[in-house]
Amino acid sequence: MKYAHEIEKRKTFAIISHPDAGKTTLTEKFLLFGGAIQTAGAVKSNKIKKHATSDFMEIERQRGISVATSVMSFEYRDKLINLLDTPGHKDFAEDTYRTLTAVDSVVLVIDCVKGVEEQTQRLMEVCRMRSTPVIIFINKMDRDGKNPFDLLEEVEKKLNIKTQPLSWPINMGRDFKGVYNIHNKSLLTFGAHQKATDDDLIPLPDLSTNEIVDIVGEKDAASLREDMELINGVYESFDKNEYLSGDLAPVFFGSAVNNFGIKDLLDTFVQIAPSPRPRMTDVREVSAQEDKFSGFIFKIHANIDPRHRDRVAFLRICSGKFERNKFFHHVRLDKNVRFSNPYTFLAREKNVVDDAYPGDVVGLFDTGNFKIGDTLTEGENMTYVGIPSFSPEIFKELVNNDPMKTKQMEKGVSQLTDEGVAQLFTQHGGNRKIIGCVGDLQFEVIQYRLLQEYGAACSFRTLPYYKACWIKGESTIINDFIRFKQNNIVEDKEGNLVYLAESEWYLNTERRNNPAIKFYVTSDFKHELP
Ligand code: G4P
Repeated sequence: MKYAHEIEKRKTFAIISHPDAGKTTLTEKFLLFGGAIQTAGAVKSNKIKKHATSDFMEIERQRGISVATSVMSFEYRDKLINLLDTPGHKDFAEDTYRTLTAVDSVVLVIDCVKGVEEQTQRLMEVCRMRSTPVIIFINKMDRDGKNPFDLLEEVEKKLNIKTQPLSWPINMGRDFKGVYNIHNKSLLTFGAHQKATDDDLIPLPDLSTNEIVDIVGEKDAASLREDMELINGVYESFDKNEYLSGDLAPVFFGSAVNNFGIKDLLDTFVQIAPSPRPRMTDVREVSAQEDKFSGFIFKIHANIDPRHRDRVAFLRICSGKFERNKFFHHVRLDKNVRFSNPYTFLAREKNVVDDAYPGDVVGLFDTGNFKIGDTLTEGENMTYVGIPSFSPEIFKELVNNDPMKTKQMEKGVSQLTDEGVAQLFTQHGGNRKIIGCVGDLQFEVIQYRLLQEYGAACSFRTLPYYKACWIKGESTIINDFIRFKQNNIVEDKEGNLVYLAESEWYLNTERRNNPAIKFYVTSDFKHELP
């Protein structure tokens, strides 16, 4: 327990949302509170999605900028907070899923006008798989949105998680008057056209007195009392353990752009969010408190600008102390490696780091030694699990336009898929290569990079699949299934069998017809299709 103090101090999390719900704005406000930036408008990262551009070079250029904001570290109330950025563009959703494997908790932003949106549902599924603790921030209360009770119900139903409001809004939109903090029993008032600072908390332990009427008026006081009665009737006192086990999400209301309700959220976050938690490897569970170093690679960023061709591998430290220039064991390659210029990010500055602790993320310059999920240790042979692949949404066959360059193409595709740009499947018993991605942009990226970096020209043939499911079963049954569905069976890079379904109807039919076969949504065979 050499590093207990360092570990206890750290909170590593991500903010997730459907594009436009306010993730960037909230990030910026957190950084302002943490003193990591001085002025609003400094966080630009995710604006790419706004233009819904299909110009991937432009997107890559901007992603390059956002590498600098991949991890934003700041101190707040004696805690060291590592905020891991997730890409705003939906085509890079797989990047986000992987980043979620490297955090200990999540803040989920929901737009009160739009409610729970599609992307939010997907991201939450990943959080649910890992029992990641989630705090929900319902944003844009300065707009006319859905009724807060309806929103809570929608969240519970669509995201399959219990909720508990820790603050409660008084009206919304034009009539938004503020939020009542249920936990601290205090009121924060919102004034139209004025930036609220959270210093104006008014203690209101007893809502039955006239004080609340003087502040918000008779009608709103009455409805707040009514709402609170309902809430007190439904919810028991907040149970932090239920939050930590990922079963209960505390909910806050506010307005990110007005900096309203953010401090409350951040104060609660530092109080309740978990410090680095134990993690599973293929051999045993590793506690963050262990003295020996271990960590895993959850993201690789390659710069596709030919003038600056560099790769950065992001290492999440899980136990012990990471040190610059010290030899560590690269488990998959079974070799010792050391890093002379690892860097971290403090106050948005890239700094060479001498040592780092569990919860920290360091960037390692990489010349092709890493792939997603690789584990580094102080000698022990173990690999972190729980960084699975999820089903892609678009499938295309890779067509080699230049047979003379077959070797280059194969090498290129293999390396790019190691980086996590896309997933590669190979026809079972054949050679056909199928690339699976979450968005169309990746196909352009692959085509471009294969040509630029490997000299291999390729094109794609669209395939009619909508989902990949990893399958398992007794060998005779599986062999029959393979014979019967030959065209739909492929192997992933590890040689696992995957069934590609054309539609939900086909998938359901095959599941009905083959009850002895298990269909999984992730490559680690941990999560069966619901
Ligand atoms: P994202 O990262 O989740 O995609 O969302 P982002 O923070 O970029 O916010 C999306 C839009 O919503 C932005 O407006 C932002 O100003 C606005 N917004 C964020 N929080 C609030 C809020 O509490 N109330 C209201 N009314 N709007 C909010 P934009 O016009 O698209 O961009 P910008 O020109 O303001 O930057």
